[in-house]
Amino acid sequence: MWARGLGDRVTCCSLSTTAASRKHNPTSCHASIAALTGPTRQPHFSFFFLESLSLPLWSRPSFLARCFCQRHERMAELEGLEFGKSDFVLLDEVTMEQFMENLKLRFEKGRIYTYIGEVVVSVNPYRQMDIYGKETIEAYRGRELYENPPHLYAVSDAAYKAMKRRAKDTCIVISGESGAGKTEASKYIMQYIAAITNPGQRAEVESVKNVLLKSNCVLEAFGNAKTNRNDNSSRFGKYMDINFNFNGDPTGGHINNYLLEKSRVVHQQEGERNFHSFYQLLRGGSEEMLQSLHLQGDPAVYAFTREGAAAATSNNDRQNHKAVMSALDVIGFSNQEITSIYQILASILLLGSVQFEEEGESVQIVEDGVVNHIAELTATDPDCVVKSLLYRTVATGGGEVIEKGHTEQDACFGREAFAKALYERLFGWIVSRINSVIEVKDYNPVLHGKNTVIGVLDIYGFEIFDNNSFEQFCINYCNEKLQQLFIELILQQEQSEYQREGITWQHIDYFNNQIIVDLVEQPHKGIISILDEACLTVGKVTDTVCLESMNTKLGQHPHYTSRKLSPTDKTMDFQKHFRIRHYAGDVTYSVEGFLDKNKDLLFQDFKRLMYNSANPVLKEMWPDGQLGITEVTKRPLTAATLFKNSIVALVDKLACKEPYYVRCIKPNEMKSPVLFDDARCQHQVAYLGLLENVMVRRAGFAYRQLYSRFLQRYKMTCEYTWPNHLMASDRDAVEAIITQHGFQDDVAFGHTKLFVRTPRSLFTLEQERAALIPILVLFLQKIWRGALARLRCKRMRAIYTIMGCYKRYKVKAHFWEVESRFANVRTTADYGKSVEWPAPPAALTQFHQITLMLHRRWWARQVVKNIPPSDMPEVRAKVAALTALQGERKHWGVGRAWERDYLANARDSPQTSSDFIRVSKELKNKDGFAQVVFSSLCRKVNRFNKSTDRALLITDKFVYKLEPKKQYKILKKLPLELFTGLSTTSGVDQMLVLHTSNKDDVLLCLQRGELCPNQDRVGEVVGSLVDYFTRVKRKPFPVKVHRSALQLHMRGKPKSVSVETRPGQTIADFKKNRDGFVLLLPAN
Ligand SMILES: Nc1ncnc2c1ncn2[C@@H]1O[C@H](COP(=O)(O)OP(=O)(O)OP(=O)(O)O)[C@@H](O)[C@H]1O
Ligand SMILES: [Mg+2]
Repeated sequence: MWARGLGDRVTCCSLSTTAASRKHNPTSCHASIAALTGPTRQPHFSFFFLESLSLPLWSRPSFLARCFCQRHERMAELEGLEFGKSDFVLLDEVTMEQFMENLKLRFEKGRIYTYIGEVVVSVNPYRQMDIYGKETIEAYRGRELYENPPHLYAVSDAAYKAMKRRAKDTCIVISGESGAGKTEASKYIMQYIAAITNPGQRAEVESVKNVLLKSNCVLEAFGNAKTNRNDNSSRFGKYMDINFNFNGDPTGGHINNYLLEKSRVVHQQEGERNFHSFYQLLRGGSEEMLQSLHLQGDPAVYAFTREGAAAATSNNDRQNHKAVMSALDVIGFSNQEITSIYQILASILLLGSVQFEEEGESVQIVEDGVVNHIAELTATDPDCVVKSLLYRTVATGGGEVIEKGHTEQDACFGREAFAKALYERLFGWIVSRINSVIEVKDYNPVLHGKNTVIGVLDIYGFEIFDNNSFEQFCINYCNEKLQQLFIELILQQEQSEYQREGITWQHIDYFNNQIIVDLVEQPHKGIISILDEACLTVGKVTDTVCLESMNTKLGQHPHYTSRKLSPTDKTMDFQKHFRIRHYAGDVTYSVEGFLDKNKDLLFQDFKRLMYNSANPVLKEMWPDGQLGITEVTKRPLTAATLFKNSIVALVDKLACKEPYYVRCIKPNEMKSPVLFDDARCQHQVAYLGLLENVMVRRAGFAYRQLYSRFLQRYKMTCEYTWPNHLMASDRDAVEAIITQHGFQDDVAFGHTKLFVRTPRSLFTLEQERAALIPILVLFLQKIWRGALARLRCKRMRAIYTIMGCYKRYKVKAHFWEVESRFANVRTTADYGKSVEWPAPPAALTQFHQITLMLHRRWWARQVVKNIPPSDMPEVRAKVAALTALQGERKHWGVGRAWERDYLANARDSPQTSSDFIRVSKELKNKDGFAQVVFSSLCRKVNRFNKSTDRALLITDKFVYKLEPKKQYKILKKLPLELFTGLSTTSGVDQMLVLHTSNKDDVLLCLQRGELCPNQDRVGEVVGSLVDYFTRVKRKPFPVKVHRSALQLHMRGKPKSVSVETRPGQTIADFKKNRDGFVLLLPAN
């Protein structure tokens, strides 16, 4: 419940926020949010989120300041009222007078563009305007329509944005009559798109852009001509698709061309010119080039260019020739291809110079030289050229082939048809060659995303000449179709959609030109059908017969008339003229030549001639020349039907795209920059249906969208709808967004769609959305990073749990193994000493060492337990010796029984033991020692540095030196405490130094009795003394084992004793030397 309550509060808050932000006071709204929410309540998620989103945004004064300042600056840039209304929708009253007044005012003030909503009305200024520069492009880049004065750039940007934002294919349809400025507009649009894309300057995109731009120059040279209405009139229709990748950069394109007015190649009306390309070649081609093409640099020389040779034109042929040559090069035409193009142009010009004369029955060519040049230029055999011009090959019924000579008239017809076809195929080939360069290559929708398209349509405008022929008929039909599309999309669909959606709507009437379209294209009854039927009829059907047929079939049609149907109308001739009341005005067509042009007959011989050319470029243009003479082919479609089909396909193509319109108006017939011909302009405004457009627009809505799509796009701008709404329907949710922004008066709610009247509201939503998106992205990143981190953490925890379990298992397994291996060691003989320990896991290394030690101790304990007490002193002494010697002395008598008191041992000293035992007893009584630690005979160095045999008796109180030869007379008695340590060697000698605290050490070498003369007794002395001192006296008794000379002091002086083996030495004996002494040992 409280969430709802809070929601209510938040609504007021947000509304007040919007209001606050309008007053440029961002901080107050922040404060009001804080005041409303209070600290105690847990925030509702969406609110909490919005708050977290909105705080940084709203509380950033710089952000809002920037937004609003920019908007104000832009508004300031918009034109003042002295320039009229920049959008016809703003007219006070929608009347023709006001419309024209505004259009004229703007034209006179140099404001050539005016909107009707998103449609741009453009008036040809007939002068260079300073409104297409870099700065202007920058000003329009990424801006909304109403932010800047009306401009082509604004619609271009709108089409581009729609394409980029919504991945929608869009198209810009430019319409208007001949000379109204369509081609110029299409070029500015392309320039704009090129300028705003590819900010990263990627080379491949730049090259695509370059080719797209340069292609204009080439196509204009070959497809445009001076007419009486326009010095640079497009004589073909052009629809260009520009493909974009997901980044919005152009990746390629495709050009569709429609019906080139090829009759112009051989014939031009008075004051008109052939296609620019001919004059460019003749006037701009170098001397050398013209020579190689067998041409003279004067258009007046050639039949096909003579009419236009003198025509004054604003075209600079010489300069344009250079530009075309360089554009061909940039686009990627090879040198051979460029040469071929000009060879074909030259051939056409020369064909015009071929003349025929009748010689009796047959027809001859007046001058052979020209034919030879044509043959050379087309890389064909001159005889074949002559043959093709004078004869036609006909297959008879029986499969035979005969050559039929032309009449002079046939020959002229054939020559002209050939010249026209050559040019038409050349033009088609140039377009396809450009297409092959700019087509999107290696496109993979999975990898590159949706490939979106902007189409730009620049087609020949509606035209009325003094003499209107088949071409004008086609061109005007095409304009009817485009007008129909405009009506359908802008007037009809729009109104029926309001009806469908249940929007209150006052229907606006308009003229629907479908009836004229039907007049031309309806099956069986339409003009094209009648023409086709006449062409199919065997026998001599003339143009007049065809006109009769039209009169019969279309006599009742309100948009068709002829002299026969209106005999009083002297502007038409009998059997020659018919008139169609087009949407843009009445056009009187001369039926002469209609059938021939519709049949578009070209003798097969020319096709074969060209296919057999040695020039591969030419051959490529004539693939149908490979058909054998006797091969029967299906009757080809007529020119009118082909054209109709291509225009129907074009309209279908346009209809599935989001259209943007540029409606061009021609202000006068004089090409004057100052003249505004009211009647002419009003006529154009009327037939273009612009006034109806304003009415529908004014009453209508600029934008509509399905509720679900609208919600999807703008739901983040409202706390009730983000991230998901809890309302009954999407419609309610959309209403919440609209209410929150205060746009209720600017919208209408249809059954399935929301209708927004002004683009401004939408722009506000767009702007808010654009500001929220980065924060949303950050938020999503935060959540996602959090999710990733949690996932990682979970995984780590799982890893540690597994590791813990495994470790525990390893530890337990080790315990079990140790337990099983050592289970019975108590009963084995070695108490488990031979049992191999299992390798412990790393965690039990210390434990393993401790258990190892424990077992050793236990094992030792078991061993020691079994030792009889009488043996214990010996064992202790041995343990002490082992510890003291630290493995330094290899032989130390561990393996034998230690007797200790060797002098009292009868087996060791059989002769003297009894004497010694007596002396020892006396001493024991006298000095009160408790036990003999060690006794033995020895060789000892005396204080005169002489060595003598002595007896050594070590007791627990004194150390005695005895004279063995005098019944063990006491020579010296030293208290045991005097001794501080012992030194010995690592060898087998029995030398010992007993160190004393008064630095008068005792140096001796033990002698062995008869028990075993070789046994080692040094270890025994060491063990006995160390054990006694450490265990009984609890004093350390350091033992030093020397590998080389022993160090000692005698009477305070340092001495060194080395050991030497000497042959001939019978007993071990000391000898004095410089450093002290040397112990000489017997050799064995
Ligand atoms: N925006 C413009 N600025 C300056 N001059 C312009 C502009 N638009 C058109 N013109 C002038 O008008 C002439 C005719 O324009 P353009 O060739 O574009 O007409 P069009 O509508 O394509 O005619 P057609 O149907 O015969 O091809 C141009 O050659 C140019 O001199
Ligand atoms: Mg044009």
